[in-house]
Amino acid sequence: MGKTDKVLIFDTTLRDGEQAPGASMNQREKMEVAQALERMGVDIIEAGFPVISKGDFDSVVSVARMAKKASVAGLARSVKKDIDAAAQALKAARHPRIHVFLATSKIHMEHKLRKSPDEIVQIAVDAVKYAKKFAADVEFSPEDASRSDKIFLYRVLEAVIKAGATTVNIPDTVGYAMPEQYGQLILDIRNNVPNIGKAVISVHCHDDLGLSVANSLAAVRCGARQIECTVNGIGERAGNTSMEEVVMALRTRQDYFGVSTGIKAQEICRVSRLVSKHTGFVIAPNKAIVGANAFRHESGIHQDGVLKEPTTYEIIRPEDVGFTGVGLVMGKHSGRHALKARLKQLNIELNDQELDKAFGRFKDLSDKKKEVFDEDLIAIVADEVQEVKDVWSLGSLVVTSGTAIKPKVEVCLKCGAKSFTANATGDGPVDACYVAVDAITGLKGKLLNYGIQSVTEGQDAQGEVRVRVDFDGDEITGVGASTDVIEASVKAYLNAVNKKCAAAKAKTRKNDIAFGLQP
Ligand code: KIV
Ligand code: ZN
Repeated sequence: MGKTDKVLIFDTTLRDGEQAPGASMNQREKMEVAQALERMGVDIIEAGFPVISKGDFDSVVSVARMAKKASVAGLARSVKKDIDAAAQALKAARHPRIHVFLATSKIHMEHKLRKSPDEIVQIAVDAVKYAKKFAADVEFSPEDASRSDKIFLYRVLEAVIKAGATTVNIPDTVGYAMPEQYGQLILDIRNNVPNIGKAVISVHCHDDLGLSVANSLAAVRCGARQIECTVNGIGERAGNTSMEEVVMALRTRQDYFGVSTGIKAQEICRVSRLVSKHTGFVIAPNKAIVGANAFRHESGIHQDGVLKEPTTYEIIRPEDVGFTGVGLVMGKHSGRHALKARLKQLNIELNDQELDKAFGRFKDLSDKKKEVFDEDLIAIVADEVQEVKDVWSLGSLVVTSGTAIKPKVEVCLKCGAKSFTANATGDGPVDACYVAVDAITGLKGKLLNYGIQSVTEGQDAQGEVRVRVDFDGDEITGVGASTDVIEASVKAYLNAVNKKCAAAKAKTRKNDIAFGLQP
């Protein structure tokens, strides 16, 4: 086994996760995710790839300023300008880490980099030495390590550790490795790289064959002591190792792995939901640990067993991962205090104004729905207590639709004290509503993604809609919930419209400041 029985959790949701097509988040959303990651005890937060864009640079700066306990990493290719950008972005970090990478497989060296093996070793060593000028904590990743020649890989690893790398990461960049093979690679590295004891071995697996979690766990069995992963497993192509799955596998089978992590597991469902909300990526109901069905028992035999003794069919207690389950919590007669208390139990603290809004929505919902579950409350808070100030809100909605007629809608939106109404037709009722909203707001949104999920079970359940909309090249996500799915769809779209308005306002203010128009 490795040097320590603690496995470090390196979260790359904000870098590799955000690289997933359609998963981009704005600054505020990234900060919220970073704060949640810090709160849940992640050891290292990879906050972005600073040289790649101003947005990435700014996010790394903000996360670096915020994080107190977690180290903050910035990614860099093995070139000076990338390392300079990472160093600059990490200046305010209490625990900065520069993460440099360079491909070492024959395919990448010949076709992508067009460099000889000797040149690659030299570039890697120079990059690590250069990064060391700015940070004591330097991680090196030989990209596509699992398809690299092993003897060459040992040579690169030995050289970069000698140059000062404190962590060496072994990426299965294209998700090609098999668990046994990948575990063996870690063992071989430990046995063939003479100075490996001076660095932590990290693993970074992609899910192209659905094996990223299995590969990461096999590597831990063989001595890896850092896992790179993302919340909900989001990431390039099929995604990365899912954080909730590896963390809970290590915890549930501590008897087998003999290691622990510093993750506060009760935060898992909350963080998962937050990332889903901000990326617009809906969590599959059967997703391990965080899916809506992860702790639901349908068969009579299972239900009977769980009622008699939960461990008959449950290897994890739902509350251990903050899974709020389907507990009936509130009804028509519950008051404002009861709502506040229940939200507090769910770790949701609202100010008075936010609580008023949430309570109004709760009352409306409890009129329509006999039973209000924790999931309903969470959806209300996500939907109603938006962090952005709403410019537009839904006044009323009339929809005429059927199998033989073209859908027609009348949408009334409120903006401050004023109301605006538009009529529209469309391919379907949702499309018609979006045409009407665009006509009123003057924004032209292109719907990129639309997903709907039932918040709880039953015919009176709320539908939660997530949309991703392109407004003039800005991709923005929106969420809305209601017992009426058309209304939920309009609310989700309006949430995206309001975020767009907030971003435009912030930009104008920034320009005004730049041109000396504002203090
Ligand atoms: O998948 C990969 O190889 C990476 C590296 C940059 C670590 O993301
Ligand atoms: Zn990756």
